[in-house]
Amino acid sequence: KDSASGEEVYFPAGCEQADLDSALRYTAKNRDVFVCSYPKTGTTWLLNMTWLVIHRGHPFPGFLRKSMPMLEFDGCEAAELIDDSEFPRCIKTHLPYNFVPKNPRAKYLYIARNPKDALVSYFFHIKGFASLYQTEDPDINKLYDLYMKGEVEFNSYFDHINIWYEHRNDPNVMFLLYEDVKQDPRKEILKIAKFLGEEYESDLKAENGKLLEKIVELSSFKHMQSANIWVSTENKRPKDLPFIRKGKTGDWKNHLTTRQASDMNQALKERCNESGACHLWDKY
Ligand code: A3P
Repeated sequence: KDSASGEEVYFPAGCEQADLDSALRYTAKNRDVFVCSYPKTGTTWLLNMTWLVIHRGHPFPGFLRKSMPMLEFDGCEAAELIDDSEFPRCIKTHLPYNFVPKNPRAKYLYIARNPKDALVSYFFHIKGFASLYQTEDPDINKLYDLYMKGEVEFNSYFDHINIWYEHRNDPNVMFLLYEDVKQDPRKEILKIAKFLGEEYESDLKAENGKLLEKIVELSSFKHMQSANIWVSTENKRPKDLPFIRKGKTGDWKNHLTTRQASDMNQALKERCNESGACHLWDKY
């Protein structure tokens, strides 16, 4: 619960009120780059692309959250500790819009993904972190019901998308789609670079797009799946359930019933109608 606004958020396994309090104490700095999303929508992918753009193709050292803290898990102090004297700080967060520390000069990238695929990915996420979620064998049907009610980490996906989508034209917000990045990574990486600053975009285009090609390669599914830097060692996952799992659009067809899929489509239509976000996946 945010004691200032009274707003409440379902927090992830392993997090407590003190962690939210700490996250909310963070003051967004002018140059900060926030990578925001609902879980399982391509956050790690976007973090990696963002880092590579800012750091001109040099991968981050060690495991991801040492370089790019997750605000609600790692807290305000971890974010403050990241040295931003040379490069802007990148901060990951799944917090709903209202909870995210704001600064008109900071930048906010948001990635959204078809909710059916996000749900399936979330199911495998829970399966892979069995000890964290204290379940060896999660039930996708039960998870589906909770997901539709928004009784899952970070509340309803539909609400999460709506508010970010309403802010998509703010000068310091960029709204991206997982499916667009899959379809044309070069185009989306250039968009990210332009949003971060013209100088990043021109670096990417220099020498016949040499740096752009490097970033495309280092953020490809194949490359990312082969690197073991996304999850801390204490959170090791079984070999057959890697964190960078399948990376496909439409995997929901293998896991949801026809009824579940059409109910989810209907929910998207109704609950994201006012914001217009219901049309995000019309072409996919
Ligand atoms: P799947 O479980 O469908 O494979 P998040 O980082 O928000 O937790 O999202 C994880 C999802 O993004 C996983 O989806 C993961 O495989 C996918 N992903 C990560 N890197 C990717 C990449 N380079 N290309 C495509 N999908 C990627």
